[in-house]
Amino acid sequence: MPSVIDEILARADIVEVISSYYPLKKAGKNYRTNCPFHLEKKPSFTVSPEKQIFHCFGCGAGGNVINFIMLQEKVERREAIKILAERLGIKIGREDARILSLYKLLGEACQIFHNFLLSPIGKRAHDYLKERGITPETLKKFSLGYVPSGKAWFNELRKKAGSDANLIKTGLALEREGRIFPYFWDRVMFPIFNLSGKVVGFGGRMLREGEPKYLNSPETSVFEKGKILYGLNISRGEIAKKKTAILVEGYMDLLALYQAGIENVCASLGTSFTPHQASLLRRFAERVVILYDPDEAGQDASLRALESLWNEGIKVEVVILPSGDDPDSFLKHSGKEKLLQLLESAQDGFEFYFHRLKEKEQGNTRKIMERCFYFWQDLKDVWMRDTLIQRGAELLNIDVSVLKDAWKSFRKKKWSTVTESLTLPAKPEEQYLLSLCLNFPSVRDRIFTALSLEEIEDPTISRIFALLKEKKDDPFSLSTFLENLEDKERKYISALLLRGIPHSDPEKECDDCLRKIKEQRTRKKIRELQEKIRRVEKGSEEEKNLLKTLQELMRRDTA
Ligand code: GTP
Ligand code: MN
Repeated sequence: MPSVIDEILARADIVEVISSYYPLKKAGKNYRTNCPFHLEKKPSFTVSPEKQIFHCFGCGAGGNVINFIMLQEKVERREAIKILAERLGIKIGREDARILSLYKLLGEACQIFHNFLLSPIGKRAHDYLKERGITPETLKKFSLGYVPSGKAWFNELRKKAGSDANLIKTGLALEREGRIFPYFWDRVMFPIFNLSGKVVGFGGRMLREGEPKYLNSPETSVFEKGKILYGLNISRGEIAKKKTAILVEGYMDLLALYQAGIENVCASLGTSFTPHQASLLRRFAERVVILYDPDEAGQDASLRALESLWNEGIKVEVVILPSGDDPDSFLKHSGKEKLLQLLESAQDGFEFYFHRLKEKEQGNTRKIMERCFYFWQDLKDVWMRDTLIQRGAELLNIDVSVLKDAWKSFRKKKWSTVTESLTLPAKPEEQYLLSLCLNFPSVRDRIFTALSLEEIEDPTISRIFALLKEKKDDPFSLSTFLENLEDKERKYISALLLRGIPHSDPEKECDDCLRKIKEQRTRKKIRELQEKIRRVEKGSEEEKNLLKTLQELMRRDTA
């Protein structure tokens, strides 16, 4: 839907949009604020009204207004476009009509399943949930349902869908050898909602023992498991109020806690907790209490969840239940007060983390450190890393300075990957040319006639040039151009432009740069030739030819 994007980019003002979220302070031509995407003390988040882009010199985030909304609202491009279109009163095109019809179909399915649960067909499922202590209010609040084993409901939904292809897109049907089947069969259904309250998928539990116990909808264009937390659509208010979220693994655990009046809870859908889910939670919580199963798998999952949450600057605590329990069963036999006590006295995340690492690595400090270092090198939050060094030293019984030294030497070897998003590794002339090209579209032709793409060494710059060369649009729009770039290239450009190479005489600078690049290229060729000549047989025909080429090159170089 290119037209909607064009319209958004033409009409949205990035300064206006960002300042509706964060206070922007004028700094020269640009605006600044503390980066909302990583913790920092000095503002390095820069917004350019002139170029309609933003860039954070701390964490490397950057792009146009759509990229900002994606990061800010933790949403996919499509959703970001929708948010902006709504804000600007722009009508949405066909693509979105298709998504809306998916939501509608999933919502209808949810209603059908819910009705089954309350009807005689769903009696077994209803009895099962009742036996597990789920109240009628909870059934309703979470729209629980039941999928029978017959095909009647399925055919009804097929009719509503209009085409089988549409039904398959909801994840409720699958195709095998040209025939279409229901994905779920005789299961209790837990609908999964996104934050706008739309059904996007389902988790289905078997009524008896069997495999798989839970079956989740397949990933679809509206259901990405790693980006959704079960129950968050209902609990987010309570989480925001308490600034604390309790994180559980299971659907039933979530329902049990919520029903007991512990409403600031969400569940990670059984898949391991993802960085995306952590950044989603950060919108509502400053503190997370992990309440997973106490078995090995649960503790390892807690370890990974901890790292993702820390990466978002969230304070974490961990509760380890008595062995053999899960939150649901614990509540059932020990009651709410006992669980609240456990939550009150949750273990400090750092203690749990280093203790668990010691256990896993059988006390091998070198291995523990290595695991930490790999995590630290990707950690966005410098302040958090400092705390980890301090607490790690204390809890692993290592001298802080020794740990710091070890970290430094690890980092030196890995420096390139650590700083990849922060530095601009290209040759200065190539950077300069790109900056000119983006700031003064009129010099583009000059550059492209003088320089072929193969002459550009830096792969990122070369790719950006290739795309610029294709783009003949007039006038050139930077934020539209950014739309077609990969993450890496977009960040590169926002860094380059907001770092701001000063230009005074673009055409002259352009010619100087081009000449320098040509010279460097000639010198490189000369060096390569000299090397070759050294290796060929003296007095041979080959040597004569090479010497001739060399002379020509040298003449050109001094000319
Ligand atoms: P019950 O109390 O037995 O109903 O389940 P639970 O909610 O306690 O879940 P459990 O601790 O067994 O698993 C935690 C979560 O992992 C579940 O809520 C599901 O989201 C997920 N899960 C469990 N078993 C399976 C499975 O077989 N397949 C898939 N895809 N997910 C599962
Ligand atoms: Mn359970």
